[in-house]
Amino acid sequence: MAKGRKLSCRALTALRRIKRNREKKFKDIFFCIPGFVIIVALALLVSGIFVVFFFTAIVNFIIDKQIALTKGSITFEMWRKPPVNPVMQVYIYNVTNADDFLNDGHKPILQELGPYVYIETWEKVNLKFHDNGTLTFNQRKIFKFDPERSAGNEEDMVVIPNIPMLSATSQSKHAARFLRLAMASIMDILKIKPFVEVSVGQLLWGYEDPLLKLAKDVVPKEQKLPYEEFGLLYGKNGTSMDNMTIFTGVEDISKFGLINRFNGKTQLSHWKTDSCNRIDGSDGSIFPPHMDHNTTLYLYDKDLCRLLPLKFQKEVLTYNDVKGYRFTPPKDVFADVATNPENDCFCPSGPPCTPHGMFNVSLCQYDSPILLSFPHFYFGDDKVRTAVEGISPPDPSKHEFYMDVQPEMGITLKAKARLQINLAVSQVVDIKQVATFPDIIFPIIWFEEGIERLPNNATDLLKLATETPPVAKVALTYTLFIIGSILLVVSVFCLVRSSNRQEKMNLEGTAHYTANDEANKKKKAAMNGHANGKTIDSKVNPAFVNDSTS
Ligand SMILES: *[C@@H]1O[C@H](CO)[C@@H](O)[C@H](O)[C@H]1NC(C)=O
Ligand SMILES: *[C@@H]1O[C@H](CO)[C@@H](O)[C@H](O)[C@H]1NC(C)=O
Ligand SMILES: *[C@@H]1O[C@H](CO)[C@@H](O)[C@H](O)[C@H]1NC(C)=O
Ligand SMILES: *[C@@H]1O[C@H](CO)[C@@H](O)[C@H](O)[C@H]1NC(C)=O
Ligand SMILES: *[C@@H]1O[C@H](CO)[C@@H](O)[C@H](O)[C@H]1NC(C)=O
Ligand SMILES: *[C@@H]1O[C@H](CO)[C@@H](O)[C@H](O)[C@H]1NC(C)=O
Ligand SMILES: *[C@@H]1O[C@H](CO)[C@@H](O)[C@H](O)[C@H]1NC(C)=O
Repeated sequence: MAKGRKLSCRALTALRRIKRNREKKFKDIFFCIPGFVIIVALALLVSGIFVVFFFTAIVNFIIDKQIALTKGSITFEMWRKPPVNPVMQVYIYNVTNADDFLNDGHKPILQELGPYVYIETWEKVNLKFHDNGTLTFNQRKIFKFDPERSAGNEEDMVVIPNIPMLSATSQSKHAARFLRLAMASIMDILKIKPFVEVSVGQLLWGYEDPLLKLAKDVVPKEQKLPYEEFGLLYGKNGTSMDNMTIFTGVEDISKFGLINRFNGKTQLSHWKTDSCNRIDGSDGSIFPPHMDHNTTLYLYDKDLCRLLPLKFQKEVLTYNDVKGYRFTPPKDVFADVATNPENDCFCPSGPPCTPHGMFNVSLCQYDSPILLSFPHFYFGDDKVRTAVEGISPPDPSKHEFYMDVQPEMGITLKAKARLQINLAVSQVVDIKQVATFPDIIFPIIWFEEGIERLPNNATDLLKLATETPPVAKVALTYTLFIIGSILLVVSVFCLVRSSNRQEKMNLEGTAHYTANDEANKKKKAAMNGHANGKTIDSKVNPAFVNDSTS
């Protein structure tokens, strides 16, 4: 039976070869195999639909697996030992009229010195992976002074308010009067003055302070300050004593990089509400991926004493054409309670609370009256800025705090973390050394900790990982739909054509009528088979017949 069909099919093809020209012969190939082509075409179209709906989810799944912090993932090494050197720039407000300010009540005149530039090297050490998708480590930061990029050197002498002394006097405001008088005589003996002249290096990295030394000797052990030296960055050069436990993203990518515990604690205890005591932010290097314009990022830093929210500002093109989202703190983040009632929780001993644009970190700084603000009181009250002389109006390009983050992978591409440290001095008339020091918010320094760009091989990798999938998706979708549709149209067209031709040929009544009729029957059987969802009868195709019998 199979042999007979084979022969008749061959006879048919031979006759056609004689009768028809080349072009028509080409169409006959389709005439013989439309069922198979239709199946391929439909498979391509279904794959196209699958790509449209599931490609992004699959790619995201792969990205999530790749970025989660596991030994060997793309991000792990970048996170553990960042391939960049963050740069810290410090600007110091040098007081040029200390005597006039104290004796004659003049406005303080400040001279902004700097930048003093430090190149940082970061590394995470003492890594311990836990079973539940968390990881504990200590942060190690080494600072190296860079004289070339600095506008001065570490030996420059500056005059600044005596922070330990003014902290002690401001705190004694509500203490018993005899304590204040005692304090005054101790300060007399130790020759402590409200302004100190120290070098830039000392101001930042520490100088021996007589008051702290005394406190260390006399204060009961539990309440002891940890240091006898005072420096704004004292103890920050080296491995931090604080351990952090963060989520690796293995179990839940939406928590990737967020802090779970800081020194074993899951929240702060200083503020009035749980939401203000939260510490589940990022340390700024990595953020939960797949962010959009509505995403709020949170940063946590021990010295900031709270989560800092960051909101989408605009899309930016960073180094090496990597697209990023710029996130900045909202304008009202440090607003006074009247402007932003949510900030009431940060004012546990108020009212009165801090002035507009300030954040009181006293509870995280051994009760020193330290207020943070943005540099030049950006987003703050102009009255505070003009209470001293020498601070220009804030300029977003120099003073804005921002981070540019790669939205799909949550990796920081560029960042300028900028903050100013101020001292809130309260006048205490009983202590004669500071009797003429008025209530004032005294700016001390501002600094910028920044990442300019990632190295080329990292940006190339980011580009590859984030720009290829969307292009691949579009290309794949179009290819599948176009080829699928063409095949479908061609096979349908051929079906129609061939059935027309069969009718014509039947009318002609030529010598090959029988053979042709038999082929026609098979053809119809094949079509019926297909329509009924049965396997296609491949025997209509001479090529198939040859294959199956040889
Ligand atoms: C800081 O100000 C004092 C005057 O109070 C001045 O003597 C000193 O030279 C200034 N420092 C620098 C680095 O300009
Ligand atoms: C994960 O395990 C560590 C160590 O066992 C524990 O300290 C931490 O609280 C756990 N974290 C979560 C989110 O369960
Ligand atoms: C920080 O410590 C390193 C050594 O660990 C030292 O080389 C460097 O000079 C220190 N930096 C500063 C600013 O003291
Ligand atoms: C982290 O610090 C806390 C408090 O200092 C301590 O209890 C805990 O054991 C430390 N965790 C690790 C993993 O070192
Ligand atoms: C952002 O939120 C607004 C309002 O809540 C919504 O209309 C918009 O679609 C959201 N955009 C995205 C990208 O989710
Ligand atoms: C800062 O907070 C501390 C502790 O709550 C409080 O005693 C102090 O008065 C506050 N300082 C200012 C300037 O609000
Ligand atoms: C980039 O290159 C440096 C050496 O030039 C290498 O140490 C690092 O692992 C590379 N990073 C990536 C992500 O390939």
